[in-house]
Amino acid sequence: MCGIVGYIGKREIKSRLIEGLRELEYRGYDSAGIAVMLDGRIESFKAVGKLSNLEEKTKDFATNGSGIGIGHTRWATHGKPTELNAHPHMGEYSYVVHNGIIENYREIKEMLEERGVTFLSQTDTEVIVHLFEIEAECRDDLFEAFKATIDQLDGAYAVLLITQKAPGTIFFARKGSPMIIGRSGSGEIFFASSDAPLIGEADEAAYMEDGTVGFVTSETLYTEPEPLSFVPLQGDKMTAQKGGFRFFMEKEIYEQYEVMSDTMIGRVLDEDIVFEEIDDEFVDGITRIKICACGTSYHAALTASYLFERLSKIPVNVEIASEFRYKEPLLTDDTLFIVISQSGETADTLEALRMAKEAGLKTLAVCNVDNSSIVRMADATILTRAGIEKGVASTKAFATQVMVLWMLSLYFAKRRRSMEREAIKDELRFMSYVPKVLQKSLEVHEKCKRLSKRYLHGHGFFFIGRDIFYPLALEGALKLKEISYLHAEGYPAGEMKHGPIALADAELFTIALMPKTLLYDKTKSNVEELSARDSTILSISPEMFDLADDFILTHPHKHPMLEFFEMMIVEQLLSMEIAVRLGNDVDMPRNLAKSVTVE
Ligand code: M6R
Repeated sequence: MCGIVGYIGKREIKSRLIEGLRELEYRGYDSAGIAVMLDGRIESFKAVGKLSNLEEKTKDFATNGSGIGIGHTRWATHGKPTELNAHPHMGEYSYVVHNGIIENYREIKEMLEERGVTFLSQTDTEVIVHLFEIEAECRDDLFEAFKATIDQLDGAYAVLLITQKAPGTIFFARKGSPMIIGRSGSGEIFFASSDAPLIGEADEAAYMEDGTVGFVTSETLYTEPEPLSFVPLQGDKMTAQKGGFRFFMEKEIYEQYEVMSDTMIGRVLDEDIVFEEIDDEFVDGITRIKICACGTSYHAALTASYLFERLSKIPVNVEIASEFRYKEPLLTDDTLFIVISQSGETADTLEALRMAKEAGLKTLAVCNVDNSSIVRMADATILTRAGIEKGVASTKAFATQVMVLWMLSLYFAKRRRSMEREAIKDELRFMSYVPKVLQKSLEVHEKCKRLSKRYLHGHGFFFIGRDIFYPLALEGALKLKEISYLHAEGYPAGEMKHGPIALADAELFTIALMPKTLLYDKTKSNVEELSARDSTILSISPEMFDLADDFILTHPHKHPMLEFFEMMIVEQLLSMEIAVRLGNDVDMPRNLAKSVTVE
């Protein structure tokens, strides 16, 4: 997700911009750029990849003295992550940075091209700067030209624009994309798309309302339709990054509905799934799939095995990467080898990928971190676009992995003609509901908080479920044990009677995933068996269940995946609240690392 910064002041401008962008890194990005105006001249630099690349490019660029600057980290939507597509975008004498999406950019671009404008990038953003310069041709008042530009944009935007025709001025506008302006006691002005870059720099900040448009110099701040109201800026850098949440994990759980839209954008269409990253040639000749991963990513892989076999009718085999690497696996070249990894650096998964490549298999990574080792090694990569995940216990990365794999199973279903067109359309329709479902599911947080006090002891937890709810049970158990340090196991509900039920008593907590859309009666019988042995039951279901000691009622849905994502949120929130009550470090649980780069 993109980030914006801006600065007016006397301190070294380049460092202010790059440091500001660094505070926004957690949002995820694939290129970055700045434009600085000193003595009426603008210089701009852009680099693909990490901010360190931009720093390297600008190391000889001195920006001391009074001036202004704008900066941006870009997370590609329209056009690949290249230098040309990175912001700031320039016209003849102006530069712009933008977050959001200009929905009518094609129409504007056509109109501008007819007037002889040449475009350098594939982005929607570039239209803004050219449109501004066209509007400025027929006006002396540049703010009027800026407003006329903004008036023509449909969609969401936070925009900063500087122009050599108005030295010392930053024009800005906001609609649907956040933007904050801060100022310090010494008269500096800061812009940022969240307050993290402002903390420790500005003394007060104004959170702009949608529809705000204005300009600022070191002497004047003017906005329409209303003046901005500033409030003192409080907090330290760490709290700012957490966006008001207690923990990164909590923030990341709450972000899921937004990042899932990012995962789908440009890929889930009304009637089709499109992946720029792979094509028909890549999947030609593939008759089976093998997936390798560790931990939570392994649970996403197991979920995918149900989806691939059910929807794409393609045989799938899933392996834990650390096991795969020493089992002398038999690999055939009709197999697509998929690795799943949040970090892209997990040593076991990386080694499994290397083995598959050496065996000549086509390899595909489903990963959250661009330019990571796994991404660089795989033949192709589908990025999950979850944004940086800081909590050691994975949440939004898992959600987006499952989403990509569900999408991929439909992609294969279409190519293998294993589903009717109408059935695929139905799946896509349900898929498009996921962000709303995730948002609504958060309503259960208070209930999880209350219930958590009853689950702080006992001799263990069984998370049980069937079908795709079995990997979700595994994931629920992993989440709980990672941050609460309580013993928890995930089991297929039907497996309990083959041994584990021997542990059942009142101090054994069963967390039963009981979706209505998939094998409800079968799961219910298994839960009854546990209840008969006095296990304490917490049922998570849209249907009340008499034998449950506790229940969390989920919303009724018409598709198992919608139930899946809602129950996923319940598991995450419940684990987090149990860990909070136990006084544990939710974001950095003992003995665990975010990225496991050793065997
Ligand atoms: O970065 P990866 O997805 O490859 O990491 C794999 C596991 O180490 C990871 O999922 C781990 O299980 C998490 N702590 C789960 O919350």
